Amino acid sequence: MKKIIIEGRKKISGTIKISGAKNSIVALIPATVLTNGKCVIKNVPDITDVKTLLEIMKDLGSVITFENDTLTIDNKNLQNKLIDEKHASKLRASYYFMGSLIGKYHKVSIAYPGGCVIGSRPIDIHIDAFKKMGIDIIENGSIFDMSVDELNGIQIYLNFPSVGATINIMLASVLAKGTTVIENAAKEPEISNIASFLNSMGARVFGAGTSRIVIEGVESLGDGFVETIPDRIETGTYVIIGALLGNNLRVENVIPTHIEALLYKLKEAGVKYSLDGNSIVVSATENLKPINVKTSVYPGFPTDLGQPISTFLTQCNGECLFEETIYENRLRHVPHLNAMGANVKAFDNRAIITGKTPLHGRKVKATDLRAGASMLVAGLIADGVTEIQNIEHLLRGYERIVDKLSQVGVNIKLIDE
Ligand code: UD1
Repeated sequence: MKKIIIEGRKKISGTIKISGAKNSIVALIPATVLTNGKCVIKNVPDITDVKTLLEIMKDLGSVITFENDTLTIDNKNLQNKLIDEKHASKLRASYYFMGSLIGKYHKVSIAYPGGCVIGSRPIDIHIDAFKKMGIDIIENGSIFDMSVDELNGIQIYLNFPSVGATINIMLASVLAKGTTVIENAAKEPEISNIASFLNSMGARVFGAGTSRIVIEGVESLGDGFVETIPDRIETGTYVIIGALLGNNLRVENVIPTHIEALLYKLKEAGVKYSLDGNSIVVSATENLKPINVKTSVYPGFPTDLGQPISTFLTQCNGECLFEETIYENRLRHVPHLNAMGANVKAFDNRAIITGKTPLHGRKVKATDLRAGASMLVAGLIADGVTEIQNIEHLLRGYERIVDKLSQVGVNIKLIDE
């Protein structure tokens, strides 16, 4: 079991470089399955989710090199094989192999995907779309057996703009016959990143990043190249940390428009930051004003920053309302925050956070990936020493977090017991 020990209340200054986006790379890697060519992906974060996906790719026959943030995947000898529970259950994004393997081989056997326990997280929108494409799906225990004779383009309206379902339909349809149209598609920046990659291989995907994506099927794909976009959730987490403890903290290699909703909210609370090319420079502000935060789909306030911002809200002077609208179970970190001295009253998916409350170092748990980020922010602003257990969750999504924070002056260590 891994844990992090933090000595809080240290001012931080210097530069933090943001890594490639977790939620992009976890789709870019399975997307390579669609070609027998060679793919080069730059700005790849070295996180546990990537390691798991590369294990799956090696199992399928890919030849892989991963050096200096650059991943090269050669799929000349790729084979279609079962993706077993051991691998699929480690992360949510294993479901992207459904789209890419069915697109390429018209047949796939894969175990149910894993991921953080933040709600029931069904995959019915994916399954409905696959069925509309004519794919037969049989559930054998935890294994999905999917097959189709010929994949044809479809017109589909998503009842909810699911990120995963939008990407999965794109993956399944780039090699289909005819044209696929996804209406009410998710608009998250990661979707455009995947579309650019597919198009670099010769696919014809139009409109990614808008609510209407059109995919004209092609017969085959060639070599691919892409640079992973900066991780907007990692960016947001460090900007929040800077807003509480920064002394001109520079968060670099970012696309500020990807976190506009966060920047708007921080400005409303009185945080001072400036944009400098591809960097955001942020300093701690005294007397933060209370604000209300409601998560929603992009370009709204991201659900993945909901937990880290809730720690920020404990430092605002007055009553803040927080509402989570995407998942049912994203407030599991609240008892841990309260144990550190916060005053958070949670009702279903809403919370009233009354501040400003000093936080005190305690032994707490990371109940999921972003809850871990919330506890990390809490540990950084608390007096004394905070120990965060189950930190494996956090390491799934934040590259070299201990190094990055140590370099800007934080006293933090990772202990592997
Ligand atoms: C992706 C992100 C995750 C982020 C989320 C929302 C990845 C690997 N993960 O997750 O970090 O929190 O987007 O921005 O990119 N839903 C259904 N049925 C489905 C699919 C989704 O009911 O078939 C529900 C989910 O339970 C959830 C909501 O829709 O309540 C959003 O899910 P979705 O947009 O699909 O998120 P993910 O792709 O799983």
